[in-house]
Amino acid sequence: MATSTTIVVTSAGRSRAGRASVFAVANKKGGTGKSTTVVNLAAELSVRGFRVLVVDLDAQGHAGLGLGRVAATGAPSVHDVLCHRSSKLVDAIVETLDPLIDLAPADRNFNGDVRISDPRRLAEALAPIVYDYDAILIDTPPSSPRLIVAGMMAADAVVVPTLLDHLSFDGVGQFLRAYHGVIAELKVGCAGAMIVPSRVDLRSSMQKDVLSRMTSSYGRAQLATGVRIDVAVAEAFGACRPLRLWRPSARAVSDFARLADEILWHFVPHGLQPAPAGQYA
Ligand SMILES: Nc1ncnc2c1ncn2[C@@H]1O[C@H](COP(=O)(O)OP(=O)(O)O)[C@@H](O)[C@H]1O
Ligand SMILES: [Mg+2]
Repeated sequence: MATSTTIVVTSAGRSRAGRASVFAVANKKGGTGKSTTVVNLAAELSVRGFRVLVVDLDAQGHAGLGLGRVAATGAPSVHDVLCHRSSKLVDAIVETLDPLIDLAPADRNFNGDVRISDPRRLAEALAPIVYDYDAILIDTPPSSPRLIVAGMMAADAVVVPTLLDHLSFDGVGQFLRAYHGVIAELKVGCAGAMIVPSRVDLRSSMQKDVLSRMTSSYGRAQLATGVRIDVAVAEAFGACRPLRLWRPSARAVSDFARLADEILWHFVPHGLQPAPAGQYA
């Protein structure tokens, strides 16, 4: 895992030349909002003027779909790079509709977690291009431990989207224990993890209860305000574009904007002013 975050944000919110900040978006549980977070965070960073690379480690290719691009059959993919040392990540990278967002697409036919033997392979593959971007967002699959570890090894920090129900709360605990285990075992440095509640609806007493348990367990600093449930978020995938491009007035757009601010402020504290915590616009 990379050890330093060198993105430098000016007062105008734009970065200047430096190594990209790398974020893995991960949770062992499926359907928690990982791909949604990657696509919409990429759009929020782009609107701030950052050059963003999205690395789609999930063979479902949902991050790519949300950005309007998937790899053509036989075209180079990030999975080729993980499986074949001779493949270069730069050969797999494609442009998206947004000129500031590039994509390293998934191989949607990839079915082999076990073929990836070296957890550092993704970090090595990113090294030659890490100065070409301000931020790199890695979407990870829920059910491939080696791919999740490969993503974590390449990242400066981990973003953990979760639903606000009791089993998801338990799942976050399991995931973070495994995450700290990997850090200890592989002796890597890391800026930490941020938990992002997704599909938030605080009219539900269960969600309120789980949110309060999460706050007690992890502290407000490690917990983003989160993204409210909004059908437009799911609909934007049908339009193959980030929510802010498809429906700029959707209420979740402001939630993703605040999430970008919180992540940048948390992991790049000298760059931006603190985002107002805990309130929805
Ligand atoms: N804030 C939200 N409001 C409504 N639906 C959402 C929201 N966030 C995610 N979804 C929907 O939830 C489902 C799972 O999200 P997804 O990002 O695919 O999860 P994961 O990548 O963790 O499997 C998708 O159908 C997505 O469109
Ligand atoms: Mg996904």
